[in-house]
Amino acid sequence: LDIQDIDTPALVIDLDAMERNIASVAGFFRDKPCKLRFHAKFCKTPIIAHKVLRAGGARGICTAKLSEAEVMASAGIDDIFVTNEIVTRLKVQRLSRLSKWCDVKVAVDNPINIEELSRIAQEFGTEIGVLVDLNLSQFGKIEAMNRCGVLPGKDAVSLAKKVVSTKGLKFMGLMGFEGSMARYANSFEKRKEAVHNALRHLIRTGDMVRDAGINVEMVSAGCTANWNIAGAYPGVTEVQAGSYALMDVFHDYDGIQVERALTVLSTIISTPYQGKAIADVGLKGITMGPGGEMPQVKGIKGVEIERLNVEHAHLIARNISKPLRLGDRIELYPYVCDDTVNLYDKFHVIRGGKVVAEWQIVARGKSQ
Ligand SMILES: Cc1ncc(COP(=O)(O)O)c(C=O)c1O
Repeated sequence: LDIQDIDTPALVIDLDAMERNIASVAGFFRDKPCKLRFHAKFCKTPIIAHKVLRAGGARGICTAKLSEAEVMASAGIDDIFVTNEIVTRLKVQRLSRLSKWCDVKVAVDNPINIEELSRIAQEFGTEIGVLVDLNLSQFGKIEAMNRCGVLPGKDAVSLAKKVVSTKGLKFMGLMGFEGSMARYANSFEKRKEAVHNALRHLIRTGDMVRDAGINVEMVSAGCTANWNIAGAYPGVTEVQAGSYALMDVFHDYDGIQVERALTVLSTIISTPYQGKAIADVGLKGITMGPGGEMPQVKGIKGVEIERLNVEHAHLIARNISKPLRLGDRIELYPYVCDDTVNLYDKFHVIRGGKVVAEWQIVARGKSQ
């Protein structure tokens, strides 16, 4: 099958580019004390996670959702960290069931949640690995996500003590998602400074927990925006990067040298007047950023997406040498790979212009 034989809209991986991305990040971590923990929420596809793990430099994967973890475990991946709080009886029961046959860990930031995890884990006769989640948002000194997590310092230490003294749970360490703040600093040096400012609090809290006589095996942080910063910071044991494998417009930061390997293939279905064309992919096939940021057109200078409707992309062409014509095929870089991948059943995997595989996106839609 040739790329021309794929009907549109369709999700396409440039396999050479993805393999180069995987190899380059694996190479960075291979000889470091800090390892990669591949965030599989972006590709939602076990075969890609397996490729990352085989490339070396990695210790397990993470997922954002329990249902993603269930899919990855069923595909033979052991050592999964759900980098999120899992709350409510039904989910904790599923987590406990999973923990009976898979090394699964979860983040906590609340004593009530710790008690619920403990009670249900004991009912199931299992033990669940737990990391205390720290909110590092206010410590990078630039705007940040401000999501889940307790403050670093004594609040985190008392949660760690609670986990240690609670049956059915195993305290594994700390997690801090300073990645959120990294995104807002466009220059590498500025980002590095912000990330260091935040990580200092994570590492210091780890020392405080150790001073309380508790073993801290994992200090988990980082993301695609800073894998080469957090990955070199003393005391961080693993970096949670995921988008780098496929890449998108959003993660294309200064100093992050990976290629965009993911595109949405689309066809021009109308050229209503000069300088305007309509493509057959809209919000059902490609997403935009939270501030309305648009996907980008691959390889055609002067063509931009002006607007996305549910079924259509509005393309504006300025000073292009060859006008877009009916039936032309274009490739678009998603603004964020995560939610665009979530819209498709499969990837078309391309090498040298040929379709070499179709990979089912088995964790697609796993939002529970
Ligand atoms: C907890 C956590 N860790 C890591 C990441 C890293 O993701 P990325 O590789 O896209 O930077 C995310 C992204 O949302 C996250 O929520």
